[in-house]
Formats: sequence, C-alpha cells, structure tokens
Amino acid sequence: MSAIPQPLQGMSDIISPEVEVWQTLETRAREVLARFDFREVRTPIVEMASVYLHSLGDTSDIVQKQMYAFETRGGKQVCLRPEGTAGVMRHLAGRGQEAQDARVYYMGPMFRAERPQAGRRRQFHQLGVECMGPPTPEQDAEVIALQAALFEAWELGPVSFQLNTRGSPEDFPRILEGLRGELEARKSDLCEDCQRRMDSNVLRVLDCKVPGCKEIVQELSPITTWMDPASLEYFDRVRKTLDLLKVPYEVNPLLVRGLDYYQHSIWEVTSTALGAQDALSGGGRYRMAMGKAELEGVGFGIGMERVLLALSEAQQAKFSVDAKPLVMLVAQNDAAREANLSLAADLRRAGLRVRMDLTGKSMKAQMKAAGRQNAATVLIRGEAELTAGTVQWRDMSNSEQQEVTLEKVVGLLVK
Ligand code: HAM
Repeated sequence: MSAIPQPLQGMSDIISPEVEVWQTLETRAREVLARFDFREVRTPIVEMASVYLHSLGDTSDIVQKQMYAFETRGGKQVCLRPEGTAGVMRHLAGRGQEAQDARVYYMGPMFRAERPQAGRRRQFHQLGVECMGPPTPEQDAEVIALQAALFEAWELGPVSFQLNTRGSPEDFPRILEGLRGELEARKSDLCEDCQRRMDSNVLRVLDCKVPGCKEIVQELSPITTWMDPASLEYFDRVRKTLDLLKVPYEVNPLLVRGLDYYQHSIWEVTSTALGAQDALSGGGRYRMAMGKAELEGVGFGIGMERVLLALSEAQQAKFSVDAKPLVMLVAQNDAAREANLSLAADLRRAGLRVRMDLTGKSMKAQMKAAGRQNAATVLIRGEAELTAGTVQWRDMSNSEQQEVTLEKVVGLLVK
C-alpha cells in the first residue's frame, strides 16, 4: 500500500485550535486597518513572473534563488507570489488616478523556496499594507504607527522597531561608490558572498551575518554620510513625527533590507521571543515601475507565522477560546433522531453550536462521542420524552440530569 500523502516540505496545514488564533488576529487586524481607512485587496496567488522579476531587483535573494517560477502549458512564464507588494502594484497600475492615494491591505499565502527552519517556511502568510502617494515623511511615520497599532491589538510582547534610511535615488550612486571605496582595502577579508556583493549589490554587505564581515562593517561610515541634506531632513522629519505619534524606535544604521525597490525610510520589527529568524515584519518606502506606470508608496509585510511564534502560550489559549459551548443531541431511536433534526434547526437559528448523530449510532456510542467532542450540554430524547414533549438535559460538567420541557430548552440554553 502506498504511504499517506503529506504536505510539501516547508508547507503546513493550519488546524484548530491554532486556526482560531489566526482568526482572532485577523479580526483584530481588520478593525485596526478600518480605523486607519485601509481597504482589503485580494490579488491572485499566481502572477506573470515579469511582475516580480523586474521590481524586486535582479540581485535580491528572492529573484536569484527563491522564486517558484514555471512555464504554463500555453508557454507563459508565471510564478507563485513571493511577496505582496509587486502584485498589488500590478493591480494598482491599471487603476489610473485612483491608485495615486490608494490605501490597501492584503492577507494571504506567499511562497519562497528557502531551506525550512523554525520561523522560515516555503509557504508562509503575510499581512501586508500599501499606502500610495509621493514621498512624505509624515506618511511614512503614519504607516509605521499603523504597524505599531496592529502589534498592540495583538497584545504582542516587547518588540523593537529598527529604522534607517536608504536616501533618495539621487543619493544611491554616491552611497555605492562611497561604500566600495571604503571596503576596497578590506576586500580580501570579506566572505566570498560579500566579495561578489561588492560589485553586484554592495549595500547587502552591511547586513551580512558572517562574523568577520560584521566586524569590518562596524568600522564603515554610516550611509547617511553620502546623502544629500534633503534626504537627511526627510529622515529627521520621519523621526520627529514618530515621536509625536509616540512610537518608540531605534535607528539602526546597518539596516538595508533585501529588496531593491526601497528608498528613504526602511524598517524592520524584531522580537526577542524569536530565534535566528527574528524579523516579525519589514517595510519601507518604495518606487516601482509597472509597464508604463510609475508607482510610489510606503508599506510593510508582517510574517503571520512569526507573530504566532512570538505570542506566549497563555495568549494563544486566550485567543483560541472563542467557540461557543457545544450542545449535543442524543436520540434513543429513529423517531427521536428525526425529531432532533428540527430541534437542531431551532437551536442553530437561536445561535447555538449544535451537533447530533446522523449515522444511527447506539446511545452508548453517542454519549461517548459527546464526551470526546467536549460537549457542554447533552439533550437526550427517547420514546417517553417524545410523548411528554420534553428532553433529558445533562450538564456534562457535573453529570447532573433533569427533565426540561421543549418550550423552555432554547431559552435556557441561550442563557
Ligand atoms: P520581507 O521582509 O521580504 O518584505 O517579508 C516581510 C516579512 O515576511 C518578514 O519580516 C517575515 O516576518 C516574513 N517572512 C518572509 N519570508 C518568510 C519565510 N520564508 N517564512 C516565514 N516568514 C517569512 C516583503 O515581503 C515586502 N513586500 C514588505 C513590504 C510591503 N514593503 C513595502 N510594502
């Protein structure tokens, strides 16, 4: 016999009681997002590969090695979305004027071909936000404050907002040249990857995890050294606005982010409750070309699996107990089972959570099932109860039983 099929490596089924925690997080998030006037957008999971290839940056890890890309039978190059921003920009590019000040959010699965480990999945879920409009420091700060409000609504323990600036596109060539100049003398001490990055994407040397590179990087001038005064003023205003909005943050001069579309403000939120994969979320301001359209905005993506990892067990338990107590209908014979069908309909209409046996199990088996499914109340009917118009009401917490008339059952249960 062949083995039972399993989900693919790095992808998992999300089931109760954890799925109720997800639902609570999503419900609370929707409330916060509505208060900031963001609307949901649901874009397809499969996109033309070009949507991602041209926007994330040729040297980004995602494009180089993490895209699930394939050719359709019709010969189209498509991919499973590795993140949400480019897909949402593809959508907004077709909306003309309307896209210029759109405020949208999305929740859903993303796919990256990474080596799975704690907090790193091949299918993972993001809650993402994109706020369109030209560079405005106050707007960047408002979006960061929205992110803080989400973490607050989720009662997430201590998190750290790490903030930096990448400057404007006019600053980029000066920054790259400046960094290369300072690194040139130390090139042979850098790891092999970073030696390659010196040419392809020198900014990424700053967040290399190899101890030798980390040491060298500490001695470099901060990238703000090569920025125009206007860019520094922009960053200053972001920070001042965050102070006004009472969002605590730290400036991290080595933060660069792994996607090429960023400019000006970038940030990451980390939690000490997580291990090596400690980034709960990342975001920043960006500019992206989609065909003829140029789109500008600021946003972030939160890794939902990591949020769950960062929640304490007590919080998870609190978030998952939203199910109503279960009422189980037990029948002694077929006539009672038939009568229970309409009783179940009445109880469900009154908003109660109800289950009954539909397969003709014995009384004993039905009572066992009630115990297994953690029923709070069992309503038992047989010949005598049908004639009398009553049910035997069994309170499963103390096994006490009493006879109750049918008219009173709904009212008592709702209470
Ligand atoms: P990102 O930093 O690539 O940014 O991803 C955002 C978050 O998604 C990460 O901080 C992490 O929590 C989660 N994440 C990423 N990869 C994995 C994985 N393999 N397994 C589990 N969680 C993961 C973006 O995706 C940008 N689109 C964010 C953005 C929106 N910037 C502007 N707007």
